Amino acid sequence: MAEKSRYYVTTPIYYVNDRPHIGHAYTTLACDALARFLRLDGRDVWFLTGTDEHGQKVEKAAAAAGEDPHAFVERNSQNFRILAAELNFSNDDFIRTTEVRHVRSVQALWRELKARGEIYLGTYSGWYSVRDEAFFAESELVNGLAPTGAPVEWVEEPSYFFRLSAWQERLLAYYDADPDRIAPPSRRNEVISFVRSGLTDLSVSRTSFRWGIPVPDDPAHVMYVWLDALTNYITAVGYPDVESESFRKFWPVDLHMVGKDILRFHAVYWPAFLMAAGVAPPKRIFAHGWWTNEGQKISKSLGNVIDPRDLVARYGLDPVRYFLLREVPFGNDGDYSHRAMVNRMNSELANDLGNLVQRTLSLVQRHSGAAVQAPGGFTESDQALLQAAHGLLPRLREHFMEQAFHRALGALFDVAGAANRYIDAEAPWALRKTDPARMRTVLYALLEVIRHLGILAQPIMPASAAKILDQLAVPAGQRDFRALGAGGALPAGQALPTPTPVFPRFDPGEAPR
Ligand code: MSP
Repeated sequence: MAEKSRYYVTTPIYYVNDRPHIGHAYTTLACDALARFLRLDGRDVWFLTGTDEHGQKVEKAAAAAGEDPHAFVERNSQNFRILAAELNFSNDDFIRTTEVRHVRSVQALWRELKARGEIYLGTYSGWYSVRDEAFFAESELVNGLAPTGAPVEWVEEPSYFFRLSAWQERLLAYYDADPDRIAPPSRRNEVISFVRSGLTDLSVSRTSFRWGIPVPDDPAHVMYVWLDALTNYITAVGYPDVESESFRKFWPVDLHMVGKDILRFHAVYWPAFLMAAGVAPPKRIFAHGWWTNEGQKISKSLGNVIDPRDLVARYGLDPVRYFLLREVPFGNDGDYSHRAMVNRMNSELANDLGNLVQRTLSLVQRHSGAAVQAPGGFTESDQALLQAAHGLLPRLREHFMEQAFHRALGALFDVAGAANRYIDAEAPWALRKTDPARMRTVLYALLEVIRHLGILAQPIMPASAAKILDQLAVPAGQRDFRALGAGGALPAGQALPTPTPVFPRFDPGEAPR
């Protein structure tokens, strides 16, 4: 049971050469929503994020800032911690690759690979892109640049290699063993065809710079930053102490969430490193898409990088969290625009959900003694609505387990829509005079539906959902998923506070900045 209920989810660890932007916020947000959902569903969750602090890219950024790399990474890593707090991320740990626990773990992994004959000394000659922190063969270059458009430099130096070429068949068997291993399916196909096309050994150490973890017994080499970085996922649960409670409990990881640009590192190199060291590979890797800004690729040179803190200052945190997970089918690329944001805020949050809550609570306040009133017998339409609310959890569970956050929100808003149609059809404001007992039943059904929406919206919009539940006077101990269904229903007689709007409209008159 304990084994079944645990869930380990990770974000990539972010390079500290840069300030946090929307891409970082997006990856972590998706993990946060999932972690919160699973905790409310009674699972024992470990949610990890952190910063990637070694390598040439960071070293160069520190030099450009005229700073010692230690001070530079210290300061910049802090920005990611601040972002996590400001976006209400519920990570259980924050790992930094400059920490002692991590250096120990990476060196232990190296020794294991070395002892098993998976690493050998040779000479690397080829192209390297510092921006991608990746090696490229001549044949992979496009007009003299990396396939990502990043500049490359020629590298020729002694290097240790990992015998990646020997892992092709075992990697293919690993993908084959579980069709859900890599998602979405289009990305899975890309990975499989890349591996089928043949693998070459991978350079895993460098001698031309110093900002990295020294190779054990050969300190002229520092480790390739991706070998160093990927290992964070096992460091955080206790590697090399594979018998430790946390390692036994949480490894293998349930989900590595990554952007599509870094899937190959996670779905090819990382499982190969792990299997080669005798450690179980990840259960699942999901690659999400990229955001553009008002139709344009986001880049520093275009000056259109989106700072998530600006979005939050302008629209509020929960609307931003909602927008990012609702606007695009998770896995696809998406476009941020002021118009799309305002549209989601006004037509869905304010109109569909906010209005439902506000209308119902004001009726209860004005005409139903500002308290939950016991319902009479339920009609077919009451029952249909209540059943739709009661049926949400299994549907959402399925969507969350597939990381289809947009579908989960779609399902929630379908029920909000049904409740809005119900309130219009039942017209409780008219029943007040003709049939007050019936009005009380209608309001009761609506309050119950809102309670379900409030509980189930918590993973995506924690603060707004809490406000909804506060207005229903739902006690703290009644907010997890065990309280869903008729068993946790609102008690008759419960007094309700004066309602205040949860999702204010955004004034579309305000010009985009
Ligand atoms: N340090 C590596 C990861 C090592 S994990 C062992 C790294 N860091 S990063 O800071 O460059 O980026 C991390 C994440 O941000 C990636 O998942 C990437 O896909 C995401 N994004 C960067 N720009 C993005 C958008 N414009 N849109 C969505 N996500 C994007 O890679």
